[in-house]
Amino acid sequence: MIDGTLTGKRVLVTGGAGFIGSHLTRSLVDENDVRVLDSLTTGDRSNVPPAATLIEGDVREEETLSRAMTDVDVVFHEAALVSVDQSIDDPTASHEINVRATLSLLEAARDYDARVVLASSAAIYGSPDSVPIAEDEPKDPASPYGIEKHAVDQYARRYHDLYGLETVALRYFNVYGPGQVAGDYSGVISIFVEQALAGDPITVEGDGEQTRDFVAVDDVVRANHLAATTDSVGTAYNVGTGTAITIRELAEVIRDLTGTDSEIVHVDPRAGDVDHSRADISRANDHLGFEPTVTVRDGLERTIEWYRDRTEAFN
Ligand code: UD1
Repeated sequence: MIDGTLTGKRVLVTGGAGFIGSHLTRSLVDENDVRVLDSLTTGDRSNVPPAATLIEGDVREEETLSRAMTDVDVVFHEAALVSVDQSIDDPTASHEINVRATLSLLEAARDYDARVVLASSAAIYGSPDSVPIAEDEPKDPASPYGIEKHAVDQYARRYHDLYGLETVALRYFNVYGPGQVAGDYSGVISIFVEQALAGDPITVEGDGEQTRDFVAVDDVVRANHLAATTDSVGTAYNVGTGTAITIRELAEVIRDLTGTDSEIVHVDPRAGDVDHSRADISRANDHLGFEPTVTVRDGLERTIEWYRDRTEAFN
């Protein structure tokens, strides 16, 4: 077993039927007693391995949450409304899920003295003056989603300082990989890959010069294990690769790797979009021993493979 792998614990993964949560759950079930709390609104029951106990319910329901939290040692809080766009469409709903439910979760964690590993986001930085972005740089979130993640990131930190709770916030950059299903509100890689495989136009929003740090879900899972076992709690860590590519370049690489005839088209830029995003991962590297292992090209190949298999299975 690799050093830093969580073992022998009672664990709750909220959002464990979703994209990141289900990868995390699968990585935990062999060595831990794992519960999943998921409303199955965007997550899928079939993503939850049989070895985990699925509690079907909403994180906003106090009673369900408290039942799921009973006697846990570690909580990975992945349940969220993950789309910047969706938070702009409905900030109140997004706040309820992303902030209020997280506050209830932190309160419940105090009851059981559970460690909380929270999914925070690079969206809290907004459009930074320069990249790479270190954790202590100014926070200027450009969307309700970013504001919400900033709030819970800060709550996590202060729950450590004020109440002695073991908390770690992981500020995810752009996570991608197998299992991220394309939809109106999902990540750009899943959308581009589906468009490319269907032979549809690949829709770049704006001039495509905006950049992102795409981190493979396997590396994000690894960061979660490290966060669950570190002594360096009460703080936040960037989880990215430290490299970035433009969205236009991403579209071109996906077009090449899929061998599609799709043309790349430009559509309106997105409101509240961040121009440049790239992580400085030195803190995670120094304190957690985190190092990304998957290059964007390898990660994209694996992701495309997964979509191809899935498309074939449906046909
Ligand atoms: C993403 C995550 C968010 C996370 C943040 C951290 C998703 C859905 N959102 O937000 O949870 O906290 O990273 O950095 O994973 N784009 C196109 N064409 C499309 C779709 C998107 O050009 O069809 C562009 C967008 O305008 C944007 C970029 O791709 O510039 C990335 O968009 P998206 O994948 O939605 O992610 P973020 O908004 O960065």
